[in-house]
Amino acid sequence: MKHIVIIATLLASVFMSSCKEQENAPAALDVIMARTSIRSFTGDPVSKDQLETILKAGMAAPTAMNVQPWRFVVVTDKEKIGNVFGTGPRSGMFNTAGAVIVVCGQTTFMRRPFGQPDAPETEQPNIFWYEDCSAAAENILLAATALGLGAVWTAGYPAEERIAPIAEALGIPVGVVPLCIIPVGVPAENPAPKDKWKPENIHWEQW
Ligand SMILES: Cc1cc2nc3c(=O)[nH]c(=O)nc-3n(C[C@H](O)[C@H](O)[C@H](O)COP(=O)(O)O)c2cc1C
Repeated sequence: MKHIVIIATLLASVFMSSCKEQENAPAALDVIMARTSIRSFTGDPVSKDQLETILKAGMAAPTAMNVQPWRFVVVTDKEKIGNVFGTGPRSGMFNTAGAVIVVCGQTTFMRRPFGQPDAPETEQPNIFWYEDCSAAAENILLAATALGLGAVWTAGYPAEERIAPIAEALGIPVGVVPLCIIPVGVPAENPAPKDKWKPENIHWEQW
């Protein structure tokens, strides 16, 4: 009986602490609605723990056939950030960021022909790579918001003139394409999220 009481007390305390964590965590919908592009940062660093949490969120995204084509290059070295990203027209947001995450996609994957379990795997194009990586990128933006950080999606693919110099500077191999470049940092601005709710963009039951 004594043992049962002890086990029940332990279970209750684990349950209570997990409830408390959920209470303290901002609700998912609040984070989604609060996210907005942040383009000015204080220059303060973003910790490795924070970056790993953000990347974990990226890798939790849905992915066609569970291929997980995302690859990430994370740059935290200020000088390198300046050299690789900090020279263009909107370089301020990179030069003040604590880190830059380049969300890349592996454009091919290894697969057996359908219905042939004994056939050898061959390299196939993955036509879904940029959808999967876009989902990962959005999760990254949301996770940054949830941690009280700021971030913005800046364009990579398909703008060849944007991706070629970055791929070269970071040694990104052929077949892996930078989809977007996300500076992450402590916000130095506090813009209100844009209200994009437009009921006219919804067609209920039929267009
Ligand atoms: C595919 C894509 C490309 C974007 N490229 C850039 C960019 O190159 N530079 C930039 O400052 N913002 C860029 N953005 C951010 C958009 O400008 C921003 O999401 C949009 O204005 C809506 O504002 P919000 O993010 O604050 O809701 C991009 C967003 C997407 C989804």
